[in-house]
Amino acid sequence: MNAFPSKLPHVGTTIFTVMSSLALEHNAINLSQGFPDFPMDPDLIGLVSKAMSAGANQYTHMNGYIPLRGQIASKIERLYGASVDPETNITVTPGGTYALYTALTCVLHPGDEVIVLEPAYDSYIPSIEVNGGIAVTVPLQFPSYSIDWERVRAAVTTKTRMLILNTPHNPTGSVWKASDFLELQDMVRGTRILILSDEVYEHITFDGYQHQSILRYPELRERAFACSSFGKSYHCTGWKIGYCVAPAWLTKEFRKVHQFNCFSTNTPAQVALATYLDNYEAYESLPGFFQAKRDYFLELMRDSPFAFLDSKGSYFILASYKHFSQEDDKEFSVRLTKDHGVAVIPVSVFYRDGKDDKVIRFCFAKAEKTLEEAALRLRKLR
Ligand SMILES: Cc1ncc(COP(=O)(O)O)c(C=O)c1O
Repeated sequence: MNAFPSKLPHVGTTIFTVMSSLALEHNAINLSQGFPDFPMDPDLIGLVSKAMSAGANQYTHMNGYIPLRGQIASKIERLYGASVDPETNITVTPGGTYALYTALTCVLHPGDEVIVLEPAYDSYIPSIEVNGGIAVTVPLQFPSYSIDWERVRAAVTTKTRMLILNTPHNPTGSVWKASDFLELQDMVRGTRILILSDEVYEHITFDGYQHQSILRYPELRERAFACSSFGKSYHCTGWKIGYCVAPAWLTKEFRKVHQFNCFSTNTPAQVALATYLDNYEAYESLPGFFQAKRDYFLELMRDSPFAFLDSKGSYFILASYKHFSQEDDKEFSVRLTKDHGVAVIPVSVFYRDGKDDKVIRFCFAKAEKTLEEAALRLRKLR
């Protein structure tokens, strides 16, 4: 066979797969990958079984099961005060990552620049590059991970086509404030810059922080793709189901790519979710539910040597270890997995240049007994 040049020559296997495999190999507790290890709501499982038994097993509408899109529109109106049209603004997708990828694919032409705030979820840069785009990275400010708007503005060029934002943020747990959206609005006004807003943790905010969806900002909404994930909201990450909300002119292009990639998303799950979205409590309880997990984990880890950073949302909290180890964060994470039986993620992997602030990411979206066992092992670390 003739060799061909790789489209992603610098990409290896994602760290999440690497750390999860290492966790399995060493029988370690897996606080690395972002997924719950507790059961999802059996009512939702029941609704899927019911949908399958009732025959909802064939392709559904290319853009998403119509009643589900209606429910999503009502939820957006209720939560963010935005009126979106299920017909022309909402597309149901096989997961949030797929929605992000599709948005980038339908917009980017070779040489287009996309501003990425780092640390960043690891799909962004490869998804830009495979589409011929150029990722222009801007660091968030350590250790608060707040946005340096001067630096973001300085990164804008005539080739800037998009900016990707993520709130609540993986891996840091930081959240965007209303003032950040106003800065962004000011920055893009009069330009051709589009926004890709990754809001898969939209329901997971703590300490009274209200999620600042881009959908709350009418001026920004006109140039934005907002991506969400039912997997994260309903403890079923393995279902891979989410959606993208965008104005009609962007949705039209999004669907051109979507229709020839997967065409339609899993039908029984969509039928079930269309009913389940009546259950407001299922997502309204999430801030309290996950905040209790964050606080329980912090309490359990009080006597550990780690210095924890602030987490205002998401499944994640970062911890610094630089006062007791000078190892680089990858070495440190591997040692934690192999010698202490707890798998975590080194934060340097979320930077293109591997910036190492000696912080690691814990996922606390786990059952109490998982957190207890992990803390027992980590408290022995010195
Ligand atoms: C920031 C961010 N975006 C998107 C996703 C993926 O969502 P989905 O599983 O629905 O593709 C994740 C999952 O970890 C994430 O952390």
